[in-house]
Amino acid sequence: MSKSLRNFLIYTVIVLIVSLVYFIYAYTVYPPIPERETFLSELGEGFGEIGLWALVFIYARTLLKLVMGKGKLANRLLPDYSPPAISGLQQLLGFLNRTHVYVGIATVAVIVLHIALMGVPMNILFFPAVLALVIWQGLFGLFITWRYTPKQLKKFSYLVHAQFITGIMIGIFAYFGHLLLD
Ligand code: HEM
Repeated sequence: MSKSLRNFLIYTVIVLIVSLVYFIYAYTVYPPIPERETFLSELGEGFGEIGLWALVFIYARTLLKLVMGKGKLANRLLPDYSPPAISGLQQLLGFLNRTHVYVGIATVAVIVLHIALMGVPMNILFFPAVLALVIWQGLFGLFITWRYTPKQLKKFSYLVHAQFITGIMIGIFAYFGHLLLD
């Protein structure tokens, strides 16, 4: 197993443990969050579902790149891997690459709307953390894409955007946040 892959797994386990401890704390300290059944919260639920599928779509591209051994992330995590030759995957990846920026912008918008419309309590840290991380992904994605971004900032943006670190946190925090809502 490559060192990067091992570090990645250790990181995931640490985020899981910290989140679990905080979940138990929040569950015992904060009062239960009542479910609202207003028109806006129903709309917000719909945005949440779209946001989840959009994230699946985005990370499917990243996983496909790993399977195909393409990109810096694949080289880092799986340096000795030789990809299978499966026809059609290249076209699929091309489509996912071309649409990533648009899907990315829509994802940020939809998740921000979801959080705003559901009216979740921001004193429970899972919620502001997910919001900040999603905006972080969108902002640095924009910096990678924007033509006039200074070179240094573009390099930094790539480093902090094209990785799994924020994705793991978004997934785990959102999962535990939703557990608190149930
Ligand atoms: C929640 C929103 C987003 C997530 C979770 C996300 C996630 C990712 C990930 C994991 C990568 C690297 C892995 C890979 O190459 O497949 C990546 C690459 C990239 N993202 Fe995003 N992204 C988001 C939004 C955006 C936005 C809004 C933009 C631009 C406006 C953007 C532009 C890019 C670019 C230019 C790359 C690198 C080039 C490429 O591999 O195609 N992303 N993104």
